[in-house]
Amino acid sequence: MARPAIQPTGREVHFAPDDVIVSKTDLAGRITYANDVFLAIAGYAEEDVLGEAHNLIRHPDMPRTVFAFLWEALKAGEEVFAYVKNMTKTGDHYWVLAHVTPSRDAAGAVTGYHSNRRVPDRGAVERVSALYAEIRRAEQAAPGPREALQAGRALLDARLAAAGLSFNAFVFSLSDLHQAA
Ligand SMILES: Cc1cc2nc3c(=O)[nH]c(=O)nc-3n(C[C@H](O)[C@H](O)[C@H](O)COP(=O)(O)O)c2cc1C
Repeated sequence: MARPAIQPTGREVHFAPDDVIVSKTDLAGRITYANDVFLAIAGYAEEDVLGEAHNLIRHPDMPRTVFAFLWEALKAGEEVFAYVKNMTKTGDHYWVLAHVTPSRDAAGAVTGYHSNRRVPDRGAVERVSALYAEIRRAEQAAPGPREALQAGRALLDARLAAAGLSFNAFVFSLSDLHQAA
């Protein structure tokens, strides 16, 4: 469904360190559940979000490459940790560290997806912002959407290879906790 474009304000908003933002989706990424913390920070009523595609809160600074990676991993049945910059209904933004997993029925079949998000540390936000900006530039310099994803992925893969880490391990390595170690 077409939605009116929301302009980013550049203003960051915050949620509490002991809060968990939760949402669940169906197999196509349409929202089937959002907890009160999700609704409060994003500024939506429950009826605004249920049944909507999860890109409802996508921020334009987020590289397409990251979401392509996310979906590839989820479709392969894997869990993903990722820093995500999300946009509220008014165009403000908030950073999260998301843990996204497939949900399975008793027979093991994937029935949808689930994301739990917590407040990321500031060092991680700074480090990941720089990386995402670099990936966005590579995406934008590409002649088309397919090439954009290829260019973004090449950059991400090079970074992971240089660090010798999987995507999830790389995400953890960006936190202040690991940088200090
Ligand atoms: C469980 C789950 C949670 C998601 N959470 C977010 C989110 O918080 N923010 C976001 O921008 N995309 C989220 N996505 C990814 C969206 O489905 C989508 O891929 C992304 O917003 C890019 O959308 P677009 O390619 O249509 O622009 C989530 C997907 C799943 C399966």
